[in-house]
Amino acid sequence: VRPWEPSPPLSGASYSAVELSGDATRVFMLDQRLLPAEERYLVLDDAALVADAIRDMVVRGAPAIGIAAAYGMALAAGAARALSPADFRGAMEVAGARLVATRPTAVNLAWAVGRCLEVVGTSADHAGDERALAIARLARQIHSDDVAACKTMGRIGAELLAGVGAVLTHCNAGALATGGYGTALGVIRAAAARDRSLRIYAGETRPYLQGARLTAWELARDGLDVTVVTDGMTAHCMQGGRIQAVVVGADRIARSGDVANKIGTYAIACLARQHRIPFYVAAPWSTVDLATPSGSAICIEERAPIELTHFGDRRIIPEGVNVYNPAFDVTPAELITAIITERGAFAPHDVAQGAKAAAGGGARHDA
Ligand code: MRU
Repeated sequence: VRPWEPSPPLSGASYSAVELSGDATRVFMLDQRLLPAEERYLVLDDAALVADAIRDMVVRGAPAIGIAAAYGMALAAGAARALSPADFRGAMEVAGARLVATRPTAVNLAWAVGRCLEVVGTSADHAGDERALAIARLARQIHSDDVAACKTMGRIGAELLAGVGAVLTHCNAGALATGGYGTALGVIRAAAARDRSLRIYAGETRPYLQGARLTAWELARDGLDVTVVTDGMTAHCMQGGRIQAVVVGADRIARSGDVANKIGTYAIACLARQHRIPFYVAAPWSTVDLATPSGSAICIEERAPIELTHFGDRRIIPEGVNVYNPAFDVTPAELITAIITERGAFAPHDVAQGAKAAAGGGARHDA
């Protein structure tokens, strides 16, 4: 049973990574750690629990953790609604700092919390319930804007995939990683809607297996033609002519057009260049961070060794051996064919031009 029923998820799909209850007192999260074996939703009634869930990968993917953080802020606002304006502001800052500290690479998280704090700044003097309502309204807006952005990226990106027989994606940049529909998978969904013969390769994405567990789950559920390969098989598949394009998501896009995304993305971009295959990045404008000049300034999250040392409950690396577990890498702009956003597709070095494109609210870094 989906806990928010009878209303459908905000995206209109049959499942959702994260939703806010109608009265804004509970956040529902599909526990992605259990997929594909089990479809279970957690019900969270406290911003600190939302922060823990983001850190522990119940919800993941740059836009989805931004939306989850905004919903966490809505819970914090509800809990603080009886406080004085100054104490309300203080409580919201504490909740925001806790949420932002969970995962450092995806800029969407800090972006969403920053937008909520702006509203706190303008509404702190209003009556308690009004302040809390304003945050909940903004959080839902961030969610629905993201779904709309994914659909627009899908339309733009599908043009670029016209005539492609098979496309490779990495990690999960789908409905599970966004408000719904997906960024890279949104492009692939839209392309597959035009050409049902499109084949999709999903890289398994060691060590957390987002490709094998989540991308395969989503695409198979849609009845699309998906094939999982291990990350080490990419070169062989490209060499054999099995893949004609790559589309991935992003966690942060620097002003230079360098892109941080799931570990292994850079290797795929190098292979795509070697085999003269176009390499596309699809991400909403909330992932573009014009305040970060280039990829070398992006903080790369390192995660716990246990993600490498163990496969499920079983240890696969001998006791006492060192492991290194960076969760993301940076693909240099020169390896990227185009960055697809809801504001258009840009040559990577020109991504800052998107700041000038009129696209409603939400672009924190507009120059
Ligand atoms: O560690 P994760 O699963 O949060 O990493 C997710 C990715 O790297 C995605 O490719 C990225 O966030 C884009 S999601 C639309």
